[in-house]
Amino acid sequence: MKHTARQLDTLRKIGVEVWILRGAETGEAVEAAESVQPARTAAPAAEVAAESPAAASADPPPAASTDTAAQLQAIEREVSVCRRCELHQTRTNTVFGCGNARADWLFVGEAPGRQEDLQGEPFVGRAGKLLDMMIAALGMRRERVFIANVLKCRPPNNRDPLPGEIEQCEAYLHRQLALIQPKVIVALGRISAQALLRTGDALSKLRGTTYRYGPDHIPLVVTYHPAYLLRSPEQKAKAWDDLWLAREIVRAAPEAG
Ligand code: URA
Repeated sequence: MKHTARQLDTLRKIGVEVWILRGAETGEAVEAAESVQPARTAAPAAEVAAESPAAASADPPPAASTDTAAQLQAIEREVSVCRRCELHQTRTNTVFGCGNARADWLFVGEAPGRQEDLQGEPFVGRAGKLLDMMIAALGMRRERVFIANVLKCRPPNNRDPLPGEIEQCEAYLHRQLALIQPKVIVALGRISAQALLRTGDALSKLRGTTYRYGPDHIPLVVTYHPAYLLRSPEQKAKAWDDLWLAREIVRAAPEAG
């Protein structure tokens, strides 16, 4: 894996230094790391790519046609008055999602929490800050990707989404996907992964595989929820592996026409 100096710096800040820095120090350490967990993020120093001005300026988001953006806004207006499930009774705001209308990356979390419900934006709390850092480590900003949730409304007391709520809300996600046409979906956490993949399998079993999601069979990769990573930072290196898998999918995908 090649990492730019900026990515290494961001990874260090997130706490994903274990594998990369060990690898950068000695070849022996790389072997040790890889023998414990193959295909981890350990990178020999020689693979640490110098950051080029081109890489730094690679961030401007792909332009969305005004038509796509307008259609997304129309769905957002629909969502804002949605009464398909009981959650409309307790929400403050709907949380439609945010980001680039033609993003290559679509991150899907579970459901809005308290802060998100108050602000109407996804991932604005501590977990959101970590998600932003993970996105930055991939060389992007939040505005370049799209961030949404399985549910558009907060379940009371942050309880798990109910199957009926997921079912009612999923049509909105499908419509978002049809417009955005991302190259990859990253399911954040167990609840999101299980809801999208319609499975009860543990997250540890779901990671590391590329699935296909929705009517357009969009590649989907599973990783840990940032809130879980805040509680279990030792899993961050694995999350980085998952993001790298997603990055490979994006890179291999044909350019949108
Ligand atoms: N957790 C989620 O899953 N989604 C949010 O938007 C915020 C926290």
